Amino acid sequence: MSTLQERSAAVMPPFALHNLPFGIDHAQGSWLYTDDGRKLLDFGSGIAVNNLGHNYPAVVEAAKAQLDKMVHCCHNLFHYEAETALAERIVGLMGGGYKVYFSNSGAEAVEGAVKLAKYATERPAVIAFKGSFHGRTMMCASLTASNSAYRKHYEGLMPSIYFAEYPKLFGTPYRMEDGKCPRQYFTQFDDLFKKLVDPYSVAAILMEPVQGEGGYVVPPREWVQYVREICDKYGILLIFDEVQTGFGRTGNMFAWQTHGVKPDIMSCAKGIANGLPLSAVVGRADIMDKWTAGAHGGTFGANPVSCAAALATIDALEGGAVAHGAEMGAYFMGELKKLQAEYPCIGDLRGLGLMIGMEMVHPDGTPDRELTARITKLALENGVFLLSCGCDKNVVRFIAPLTVSKEEIDFAMGVLYTVFAQAVGE
Ligand SMILES: Cc1ncc(COP(=O)(O)O)c(C=O)c1O
Repeated sequence: MSTLQERSAAVMPPFALHNLPFGIDHAQGSWLYTDDGRKLLDFGSGIAVNNLGHNYPAVVEAAKAQLDKMVHCCHNLFHYEAETALAERIVGLMGGGYKVYFSNSGAEAVEGAVKLAKYATERPAVIAFKGSFHGRTMMCASLTASNSAYRKHYEGLMPSIYFAEYPKLFGTPYRMEDGKCPRQYFTQFDDLFKKLVDPYSVAAILMEPVQGEGGYVVPPREWVQYVREICDKYGILLIFDEVQTGFGRTGNMFAWQTHGVKPDIMSCAKGIANGLPLSAVVGRADIMDKWTAGAHGGTFGANPVSCAAALATIDALEGGAVAHGAEMGAYFMGELKKLQAEYPCIGDLRGLGLMIGMEMVHPDGTPDRELTARITKLALENGVFLLSCGCDKNVVRFIAPLTVSKEEIDFAMGVLYTVFAQAVGE
């Protein structure tokens, strides 16, 4: 019988990992089970989606119950309980004063967030950041600057987008005085407003509160607060793209809480329904109220089954999973620091909660992409699935489910010690 790999000739391969000699048969908790009998510890979580692990029972049950009740009726036409209850719940998580528009994917939520900012301010320009990833629609590709592959052959992208520097302090070309964030990351906005775009023409500053695809880069809190001040000064709306950071990933429900900075608009997706497709634009009520009929919408948004799954997901996250994830994140980081003490090729270890990046470098401090690829390959051969990220593809990223156990982290650490001994030598 031919393998899944052989039978997949008709599937467009968007991702290099499709070269793997096996497919996934089923998944449960922190584990993937392959069609050739392997069991893999999944520290990719479907790219930061299965925050409660695979097939979390209460989420599956909620989705099944909603399937029996109603699959679709269209949120452009009717109100229904699952959507309304989820919107109320998310507004509650924001502390009130917001409204929610539901769509299907992260890119759709970012599109919606930026459209809303343009519509509400009637201003054309957007400031985004180098190293950012916001999705693959034409507008999201226009706002993305982590890899030119996402833009190649699509040039002639959305105009009036200006890219600023995101403060990646490891390897920064600027001088750090007393370990503080270099002043250039602050003063760049004045420069941008003086030379390139009038601040009153800017609708929004769009940022990931932790850069994901760009290398799990955590910006200094005082810089995030400064961006908020800049927005307030010029009437620019602050959009946080929490597609990857949201729903418990950084140790709080949202990364804005971790930074102590509230956005005007937030896009979220991925972990919102623990695997069912759903995304949301969450905007301040006074901004959302400017969006009149026809200004935005979509047939499949707020799918009732996805909304029911999201409600059960939030129950579990608030019921202990976020706190457990924060605790496991601290434990995992502590163990990885011990590994780093033995291997100087780990140039930087950073992250919040269970969003952890390990930047691999050559002895001269330059990015070591080959070693990163070797580590993820060997980890897979030894039973742990890991992804990489970073503009230089030299960051190993750990996206364990928030429900991960200490024993599973210990298993991953055991594999990492074996892998490093093989990949780097002892
Ligand atoms: C921060 C961020 N924004 C947007 C997206 C796009 O989400 P989707 O792939 O669901 O369109 C991603 C996906 O990785 C992301 O990490």
